[in-house]
Formats: sequence, structure tokens, C-alpha cells
Amino acid sequence: MTTTPLDTARLLLRPLELADADQTQILFPHWEVVKHLHSRIPWPYPPDGARQFYEHVELPAMARGEHWTWTLRLKTDPDHLIGSISLMRGEHENRGFWLGLPWHGQGLMTEASDAVTDFWFDTLKFPVLRVPKAIANTASRRISQKQGMRVIATVERDYVCGMLAAEVWEITADEWDARTKRTEETVSSVLSVPDRRLRQ
Ligand SMILES: CC(C)(COP(=O)(O)OP(=O)(O)OC[C@H]1O[C@@H](n2cnc3c(N)ncnc32)[C@H](O)[C@@H]1OP(=O)(O)O)[C@@H](O)C(=O)NCCC(=O)NCCS
Repeated sequence: MTTTPLDTARLLLRPLELADADQTQILFPHWEVVKHLHSRIPWPYPPDGARQFYEHVELPAMARGEHWTWTLRLKTDPDHLIGSISLMRGEHENRGFWLGLPWHGQGLMTEASDAVTDFWFDTLKFPVLRVPKAIANTASRRISQKQGMRVIATVERDYVCGMLAAEVWEITADEWDARTKRTEETVSSVLSVPDRRLRQ
């Protein structure tokens, strides 16, 4: 299954292309973006780091059906990418994301994460999604909490900023389905409440 375009209320998720490297090279290499990412990311970041990574690692992994990677764009400005999100086949690390600094704290990655988690379970049909994250990475952990994920292990991991305690978060397909159904029921019950202001 190839990476297909997705969208959310505010975002377009476009399958990664090599042409995205130049914009990535501007937005990605910033300490607040990379510090809680895995130490396999070179730091200081080389001037052609994004192109090298996309050309030799990420796009080949997508072609092999091991990774599904999207760039994120605001619907109001579709020519400019603002971040990226990936799904990865494997036992321990199935999703990763980063967002350019100007767009932090607006709920955008929560939206993107929900869309690609639906893709992981509904389209790719994997039974479980696991993501390790540094305990110090409050925003990323909060996204897992809000998605109804559970901590299944605490480990030490090597990050760009050094060794840190990390948690492995997990959610199963059944848990994700139940959460999605609960959300739909809540929305439909809220919509069915008569609006008193309209009846006055
Ligand atoms: C992690 C990251 C993608 C979050 O993106 P984002 O769009 O800013 O996240 P959201 O706005 O959807 O926020 C998610 C939650 O974290 C909270 N949050 C956001 N930034 C925060 C911060 N700096 N400190 C504490 N909480 C924060 C938000 O309030 C929100 O919780 P709420 O809904 O209860 O209010 C972004 O911070 C980032 O790119 N970080 C660097 C890369 C990275 O660490 N990737 C993850 C590796 S595991």
C-alpha cells in the first residue's frame, strides 16, 4: 500500500517527495525541533542533510513499503510545508513527527496524528501502534495521552540531546476503534441536543 494524500480540518498531508528537501532543510535543523529526536539524526545538521535523508533513506523505505511519510501543509497555504509525519513498519517504533517552530502549540500535530493513526489501523490494518518518546517531551507525550495510548515500558534512549528516560506508548486496533466510536457518539449526541436559543 502506497502513501496516499490525507486531509484534516486544517491540514493537507501530501506523500513525501524529493522536492520537499529544500523547505525541510530550512525548517527542520533547529535545536527545539531535533533535541528529543533519536541520535541517528546528525547534529550539527549537514547543509544537504534533508536531501541525503530523503533520497537515500526515506523515499527508498517508502518504495519498499516499510515507511509511509507525509509533509504537512496548511490548507490556507498549500505550497509551503510546515512539518512531517511518518509511519514505520516494525515492532517498537511505528510513528514519528516534527513541526516547524512557528506552528507549535496550535493543535496541528494532534490533527495530523489522528489522521495517520486512522490510516495505520483502517488502511494498513496493523494490529498495534507503538511509539517511544522521551519523558521530557511533554507535547509529544500529551498527543499520545489524548489518543488514549498506554505506557507499556520505560527505557533509556539516545537522543540528539543525549541519553534520556523514555516511555514506550501503545494502542491496539480495538482500542483505537472504541475511541473513534466514542468520539462519534459524543459528536452525534451533542448535535442532537436542541439549541434552546434557536427555539426562543
Ligand atoms: C511534538 C510536536 C510535533 C507537537 O506539535 P504541536 O502541533 O505543537 O502539538 P499540539 O499543538 O497538537 O499539542 C499537543 C499537546 O501538547 C501540549 N503542548 C504543546 N507544546 C507544548 C510545550 N512546549 N510544553 C508543554 N505542552 C505542550 C499542547 O497544549 C497540547 O495539549 P492540550 O491539547 O492538552 O492543550 C512539536 O512540539 C515538535 O515538532 N517537537 C519537536 C519534534 C519532536 O519532539 N517530535 C516528537 C518525537 S517523539
